Amino acid sequence: AFVVTENCIKCKYTDCVAVCPADAFYEGPNFLAISPIDCIDCGLCVPECPAEAIYQEDELPEEQKEFTELNAELALVWPRIVEVKPAPADADSWNGVANKLKLIET
Ligand code: SF4
Ligand code: F3S
Repeated sequence: AFVVTENCIKCKYTDCVAVCPADAFYEGPNFLAISPIDCIDCGLCVPECPAEAIYQEDELPEEQKEFTELNAELALVWPRIVEVKPAPADADSWNGVANKLKLIET
């Protein structure tokens, strides 16, 4: 499956949602998660993300590997999102900021 990683946190542009043929995205307060049950590995979401936050599971950077399990867990408890919505007003200022994992809201 594909995995949403740290740079989505507090950016949450939601462009990824528009192209997913499997409706595999689930929405939390400041992050989206992909359900590994729903994802059909099409890869369409990767170039859509302005934060470059989505990776194929097998190509995750070492420090982002914990996001595989996090996506799976959060997708089980968050509601599905199928329509793009406006990003947070300060999204651009968070794009590329390091160590955002501690800021994730669940
Ligand atoms: Fe959806 Fe395809 Fe991205 Fe999986 S890889 S989340 S199916 S767009
Ligand atoms: Fe997050 Fe990128 Fe989608 S920032 S909400 S994974 S477009």
